[in-house]
Amino acid sequence: MTTGHAIGIDIGGTGIKGAVVDLEAGTLVSDRIKIATPDGGKPDDILETTRELLDRIDGVAEGKLPVGVCFPAIVKQGRTLSAANVSKKWIGLPAEELFEEALERDIHFVNDADAAGYAEIRFGAAAGQDGLVILTTLGTGIGSALIHDGVLIPNSELGHLEIDGFDAESRAAYSAMEREDLSWKEWAERLQRYYSHVEFLFSPDLFVVGGGVSKHWDQFAPMLDLRTPIVPAQHRNNAGILGAAALAVR
Ligand code: BGC
Repeated sequence: MTTGHAIGIDIGGTGIKGAVVDLEAGTLVSDRIKIATPDGGKPDDILETTRELLDRIDGVAEGKLPVGVCFPAIVKQGRTLSAANVSKKWIGLPAEELFEEALERDIHFVNDADAAGYAEIRFGAAAGQDGLVILTTLGTGIGSALIHDGVLIPNSELGHLEIDGFDAESRAAYSAMEREDLSWKEWAERLQRYYSHVEFLFSPDLFVVGGGVSKHWDQFAPMLDLRTPIVPAQHRNNAGILGAAALAVR
């Protein structure tokens, strides 16, 4: 085994991605391999595709590396207690165990936003930040990670706060902007409502915003008026891979 390297796998509603990560540098040291998530996102199909992905990554890794897998669900003691953008059949399954059987090795299994938040604190926009960091990913849903003095408090699910009678992610996720054809200004108003509420509840020291939309940062971030500094994530597409790998050998 090459010390200081681990494999991160990020399972999402559209793709399953993975790579070998250098845990010192916080970089990918292999190509990122991506396979489309099988239609419907059912457990057996995802397990099989993940197996195929890991076989390909193993092919380029030197020896058997530790593996971290992140997934869009609440993960408690290895069980998936929810399922976002994958089949509802995942709810209640001993997912970590199922992945370990399918992949024939121990893995570390975590929520996708928690992995992304951990990547930002270890290797990214929140590196060295004391106090409370809240990372939110704005994508199909809103994922969240709470990290206090470098320690991850898992499964925060702040995308599901009820605000003005709505599940927050149904109004403020990037998908809401696309679905409702909102302008950047209209969407920023919703983000303002969302982040000021989270700010009031938690008084964080830093907000980090991840998800693909962070590449359009200048279109919406300047319109936000918060007490808390807010910065874009440094690792967009790779945050889940980096964080899952880092958590696997923590
Ligand atoms: C889910 C979270 C997930 C987030 C991002 C939300 O809908 O409830 O568990 O982290 O989407 O995928």
